[in-house]
Amino acid sequence: MTTNRTFTMIKPDAVEKGYIGAILEKITSAGFKIVAMKYTQLNKRDAEKFYEVHKERPFFSDLVQFMTRGPIVSAILEKENAVEDFRALIGATNPADAAEGTIRKLFASNMAENAVHGSDSDENAAIEGAFHFSGREIY
Ligand code: TYD
Repeated sequence: MTTNRTFTMIKPDAVEKGYIGAILEKITSAGFKIVAMKYTQLNKRDAEKFYEVHKERPFFSDLVQFMTRGPIVSAILEKENAVEDFRALIGATNPADAAEGTIRKLFASNMAENAVHGSDSDENAAIEGAFHFSGREIY
């Protein structure tokens, strides 16, 4: 364990379907503490920057379009072994491959519209958290 924090977004598909409450309930029941949270909407520039690592991938423009089409909930979560445990809680990128009971299995529509984001490393958790929140917004 090298960090206690990870970063998440409840993506536009899950917000549109009214799953914010159910997803937050899964997150807090699994022992994650919310240390920062906001309801917001990404603009194109934000989404392109956030997913910059994928900019050469064929799905990039669809991903940016999807992530900007409506509001999201972004949050920083705290727990022992946060990054790894949160990835386990959300399940595989493609909900068809996600384990039973995971957030993506329960709430995602497909590979592109997969309900939630979870940081994939401690380093990215710190970068992504700082991209969305100032120090004064983290408690
Ligand atoms: P990725 O970082 O590989 O997955 P994860 O969100 O599980 O860390 O991809 C980022 C997002 O890009 C993913 O959540 C959904 C989208 N995506 C696609 O739309 N098609 C794809 O083939 C892949 C790999 C990802």
